Amino acid sequence: MVFSCSSLLLLPLLSLVLFSSPILSAPAAPPPPSVPSGRVVYRAFDTSLTHLTVHQSTGEVYVGAVNRVLKLSANLTELRSHMTGPVEDNASCYPPPSVRSCAHRLEMSDNVNKLLLVDYIGNRLVACGSIWQGVCQFLRLEDLFKLGEPHHRKEHYLSGAREADGMAGKKKLEKTKSHLFIGAAIDGKSEYFPTLSSRKLVVDEESVDMFSLVYQDEFVSSQIKIPSDTLSLYPAFDIYYVYGFSSRTYVYFLTLQLDTQLTQMDAGGENFFTSKIVRMCSDDTEFYSYVEFPLGCTKDGIEYRLVQAAYKQKPGRRLAQALGLSESDDILFVVFSQGQKNRSNPPRETVLCLFTLHDINLAMRERIRSCYRGEGRLSLPWLLNKELPCIHTVSCTTREKSLPSFASSFVSVSLCKLHHLARGCPEAATHAVMFLSLQRTLG
Ligand SMILES: *[C@@H]1O[C@H](CO)[C@@H](O)[C@H](O)[C@H]1NC(C)=O
Ligand SMILES: *[C@@H]1O[C@H](CO)[C@@H](O)[C@H](O)[C@H]1NC(C)=O
Ligand SMILES: *[C@@H]1O[C@H](CO)[C@@H](O)[C@H](O)[C@H]1NC(C)=O
Repeated sequence: MVFSCSSLLLLPLLSLVLFSSPILSAPAAPPPPSVPSGRVVYRAFDTSLTHLTVHQSTGEVYVGAVNRVLKLSANLTELRSHMTGPVEDNASCYPPPSVRSCAHRLEMSDNVNKLLLVDYIGNRLVACGSIWQGVCQFLRLEDLFKLGEPHHRKEHYLSGAREADGMAGKKKLEKTKSHLFIGAAIDGKSEYFPTLSSRKLVVDEESVDMFSLVYQDEFVSSQIKIPSDTLSLYPAFDIYYVYGFSSRTYVYFLTLQLDTQLTQMDAGGENFFTSKIVRMCSDDTEFYSYVEFPLGCTKDGIEYRLVQAAYKQKPGRRLAQALGLSESDDILFVVFSQGQKNRSNPPRETVLCLFTLHDINLAMRERIRSCYRGEGRLSLPWLLNKELPCIHTVSCTTREKSLPSFASSFVSVSLCKLHHLARGCPEAATHAVMFLSLQRTLG
């Protein structure tokens, strides 16, 4: 056993019981810059809302919905509406019917918005839906005019899964180029879609480079796929990405995934889920630095392990004082549902928990260090198909000697490359053990 239950539940700094609220409650979202005082409400009567993002300078609100993307003013007056569906499609068509005619019967299908991001540099919205195996539209921020909808290459399909809460993304900005980290539920199609990937976000919506993997060679690439072996053992296995964010030199995702320790292998039994926080160095184009760590909350002795929504924010002065933090600390507000069952129909009992990124990083660092000392296991059963013990690892030069027999010389060379990565990302060098396990799966 790698973590006992008590050690994996990071200390909630504050927890209070909330009643489950409608899908668009956006817990703890900061008020937009120019929001009027008093309460304003927006209701959509003929669609369900799935995502929300607030423009950082205008305070205008962009909303993703089923068959619709909306633009609201800061006071929630509807300014624009852009139709995205229904569209003729069949989820079995790969490639989608827009590219090649398909033998399956086409039907008008709802387009569920699964990802909504503002690309400030491109002055556009990236709105990814469920139709055509998960293609994205680029919409002009002012009027939601459709600038493009790349769908001719397989990299343009992010995942055909219908669930609105299975995909999350985070943009990484650079002077000349932007990257998009995307996590997506794959709905059993591990051969088509990576569960986590880093894509190019280019200026020209129709460029062949759009959404291509940031890095790819014969052995590694900027993606992680769920091994087909895992899916044959656990047909229901998937990773649902609830929220993506960045802090300092890292990019993070909050996920829900099948708990392979509690769930029986045969498909008949009940499924149990667990929440994890996934972290990578944002400069890591080869995904060496992937780490995941369980996250949960307890209240009155009851565990809350099903992440529903989250938001990263800096505390205001009063909250910072109350918690003994600095106003510059990043805090993660997370809403969990009770227990570990019924992911798609979670119990109504929820709690809101606060975590500091500092505590999360500290817990991860401790875990990585102890693994380096050879303590415990790698604890990535879905990726490795088994529990591998941590390996005592000393330094780059002695590492080669201490590598177990399965490691090829290629792996040990790559291991040393991590020291170079460490410049931009202080803890990258300590992730070698995790990387080693990844390498075996991908290579
Ligand atoms: C809401 O904002 C819009 C645009 O900013 C403005 O035209 C409108 O008068 C405002 N409505 C209310 C009720 O404040
Ligand atoms: C997709 O096509 C299959 C036949 O190949 C059909 O059974 C199914 O109902 C179709 N699904 C939709 C959503 O139209
Ligand atoms: C899970 O959902 C099903 C169907 O909605 C319900 O019958 C069952 O009681 C739920 N189980 C738990 C543990 O909440």
